[in-house]
Amino acid sequence: MKAFSEIPAPAVAETCAAFGNDRHRLLDILLGLQSRWRWISPGAIAQVAEAVGLTPVAVQGVVSFYSFLSLEPKGRVTIRLCDDIVDRHAGYAEVLATFEGELGLKLGQTSPDGAFSLDQTPCIGLCDQAPAAMVNDIMLTRLTPETARRAARALKQDARPQDLVSPQFDALSPYARVQAAVANNIRRAGDVLLGEVPRDAGLRRAAQLKGPNIVALITASGLRGCGGAGFPTGRKWEMAAREPAERRFVICNADEGEPGTFKDRVLLTERPHLLFEGMTIAARTIGAREGILYLRGEYVYLRDHLEAVLAERRAAGLLGKAILGTAGFDFDIRIQLGAGAYVCGEEGALISSCEGLRGEPKTRPPFPVQRGYLGFPTVVNNVETLCHAARIIDRGPHWFFAMGTEGSHGTKLFSVSGDCASPGIYELPYGVTVRELLALAGAPDAAAVQVGGPSGTMIGRDSFDRRLSFDDLATGGAVIVFSGARNILEIVDYYLSFFVHESCGYCTPCRVGNVFLREAIAKFRHGHANAQDIADIRTLAATIIETSRCGLGTTSPNPVLSTLANFPLVYSAVSQPASDGLQATFDIQSAIENARGIAKRRSFVFDRDFSQ
Ligand SMILES: Cc1cc2nc3c(=O)[nH]c(=O)nc-3n(C[C@H](O)[C@H](O)[C@H](O)COP(=O)(O)O)c2cc1C
Ligand code: SF4
Repeated sequence: MKAFSEIPAPAVAETCAAFGNDRHRLLDILLGLQSRWRWISPGAIAQVAEAVGLTPVAVQGVVSFYSFLSLEPKGRVTIRLCDDIVDRHAGYAEVLATFEGELGLKLGQTSPDGAFSLDQTPCIGLCDQAPAAMVNDIMLTRLTPETARRAARALKQDARPQDLVSPQFDALSPYARVQAAVANNIRRAGDVLLGEVPRDAGLRRAAQLKGPNIVALITASGLRGCGGAGFPTGRKWEMAAREPAERRFVICNADEGEPGTFKDRVLLTERPHLLFEGMTIAARTIGAREGILYLRGEYVYLRDHLEAVLAERRAAGLLGKAILGTAGFDFDIRIQLGAGAYVCGEEGALISSCEGLRGEPKTRPPFPVQRGYLGFPTVVNNVETLCHAARIIDRGPHWFFAMGTEGSHGTKLFSVSGDCASPGIYELPYGVTVRELLALAGAPDAAAVQVGGPSGTMIGRDSFDRRLSFDDLATGGAVIVFSGARNILEIVDYYLSFFVHESCGYCTPCRVGNVFLREAIAKFRHGHANAQDIADIRTLAATIIETSRCGLGTTSPNPVLSTLANFPLVYSAVSQPASDGLQATFDIQSAIENARGIAKRRSFVFDRDFSQ
């Protein structure tokens, strides 16, 4: 078919050359080809392999890993509907049916004339404005059947995706384009991140300080990583600085793929200077000259805005050589775009992805602070952590330490979504109770709250007085509200499907075990389960937790374990008596106690102790 012919060899050569024929930039090369030619053709795979010095099989392995890269031709317009559970509850099915009807396509199909592809994708970071979709690089939010119909008809009449956002799209500044497409929904601005923030005050102080002084300030503030695991930031920076090496790196983790989490999206939009300031301070501390912002593929619409901010900072002497006139303080940042793989948020996988590899977690030790990007000491920090660090250097550690709880200092951005009147971002001190947050978000009907996304824990009304902090209920940011009208087992099924979809496949227990767990939940949903199924779930969950290589696998049974522990009646209500007909043999309470025991062996956060 003409539209899908091989990519011309000169175009492939040009794209490879633009990235120095460097195998470590393979992901950029492939994303460049995909966005222009809509697939990675067999000839292109062979040619890229030769240009960067890899085998075609290795290049094909990278293409097949990432869901935004395609071995088959995609349409000129690819519509990716977010099928997150919040989107499902907000009307995903009706929006999908509208697109299918208007485009004459089923999910997963590409039209024969190569005009459209219709796909779905897990959470795209817009749960506060669901249902949402990506149309090529453009975000559409709060879709209804009516707006979906209008969009599909306009696209069929040759409108460009950006025309759906604004007729003046091209004339807008990069920031205004982002604003036109996506709302920030900042509901509560706290003192640290979303209130008044003086530009680069922390960096100006850091330029006068030596690395160990900065480590001392960050350590004294009590700052813990905001990506989920809560590792002390000062300790991480100190360890990277201590490691003897010729090069060091700072990587900002803006992969934000956890369903229900969208706080980093708002910081990237509203506080990019603060983020880059934080990265530059981290670089000053550990002696890094190179930094990478790993931006999830779904946030490609933010790229021009972020590049504009980087250019502004270079022009102002805040990046580049002799930052702020300080001899030897050299640092610059490049943006690495991801390509649609949740596991790439795990820091080892993220580093692999930056290196142009499949986004598979690495075996540890060594930890990234010892041997990270390209084998050099690397600090990987979440967006929010780096923003906090910049504020701490400006305002001093005691100011930050005084906020929050004994084990969790400062403020936290909570991404609240689901069944509430005011979904959005709430910056509050650690230690706020779930009940207080629900009151702010307007959720009087909340019956269950998922804290920390699929890998977190689901609590019921009896636990709403628990505190959001590392001391009690930890979350990387997601707080998803479900009313009593929602089906808990449907939610559990969705989260398990998410893990099945996102497992990198390296470990059998994670790859296969989650499929079995999902099948077990299906038995409950269809009323075919009994006591033996609870026992099987328990054994399987323990195996997955014990034998998985990374945090995705070790937390993937959490949706089952936490609902078994906190919503036992949901399970017992749909269970059958044992085969001998005696309900008494079904000791659901003891089964649940066991599940509770397993669940408590691991905290409900992204990672295990990473001791890095
Ligand atoms: C499957 C998986 C996904 C993760 N996704 C993210 C993410 O999107 N953003 C993030 O900052 N950390 C994520 N993490 C945690 C990172 O591995 C790492 O701990 C974090 O980036 C460290 O930054 P911090 O110390 O500032 O929290 C993820 C971990 C796992 C296991
Ligand atoms: S636990 Fe799952 S995601 Fe992690 S390395 Fe193993 S297979 Fe991959």
